[in-house]
Amino acid sequence: MNDNLFRYNSRITRKNREALNKHKAIAIWFTGLSGAGKSTLAHALEERLHQMECRTYVLDGDNIRYGLCSDLGFSVADRKENVRRVGEVVKLAVDAGLITMAAFISPIKKDRDYVKSLFSEGDFIEVYCRCSLKVCEQRDVKGLYKRARLGEIPCFTGITSGYDEPVSADLVVDTDQVTIEEGVDRILALLENIR
Ligand code: ADX
Repeated sequence: MNDNLFRYNSRITRKNREALNKHKAIAIWFTGLSGAGKSTLAHALEERLHQMECRTYVLDGDNIRYGLCSDLGFSVADRKENVRRVGEVVKLAVDAGLITMAAFISPIKKDRDYVKSLFSEGDFIEVYCRCSLKVCEQRDVKGLYKRARLGEIPCFTGITSGYDEPVSADLVVDTDQVTIEEGVDRILALLENIR
């Protein structure tokens, strides 16, 4: 960290932005295996919030890896850096007044806990998109599980790389048992106080 830095305090604060938006900002972090439905749920939630005239944004693992994190792979160190960077972006987006959703496998508990530690109590919700490896592999929307089984993709989550199941998620959505709309309803129930 550079010692010669001075924080500039904006006169327009998060509170001002939230007042303009007529709702509070919050981070909603979706974790789960590839194919568990994190992005689907995050985008479905965004659509619903948009209909409710809320200001939103979704950060999605695959998309972010085209840009901000295009220099990172899937080693433990790279995943840590991926999640750290995204955590910082989500923090900025929440400060900007947005209801911000992040859909990342984020397989390592320590990394998820670190992101959570960046936020004040009530500003961060962890949603575990729970789905068995068997079902994710059957879905195999992107064909990646098949390739991972063939040894073509190293360090593939659930196959050759681990996933720490969340033990204290704010919400667990069993994506192989509930509909997308039910999942969205359950998250919205946690957002009762945003207005
Ligand atoms: S994370 O582990 O660092 O949080 P992230 O969510 O950004 O991962 O990216 C996961 C996406 O990258 C998957 O949905 C999949 O499409 C793609 N991917 C490519 N290689 C791998 C891999 N080895 N393990 C998991 N996902 C991979």
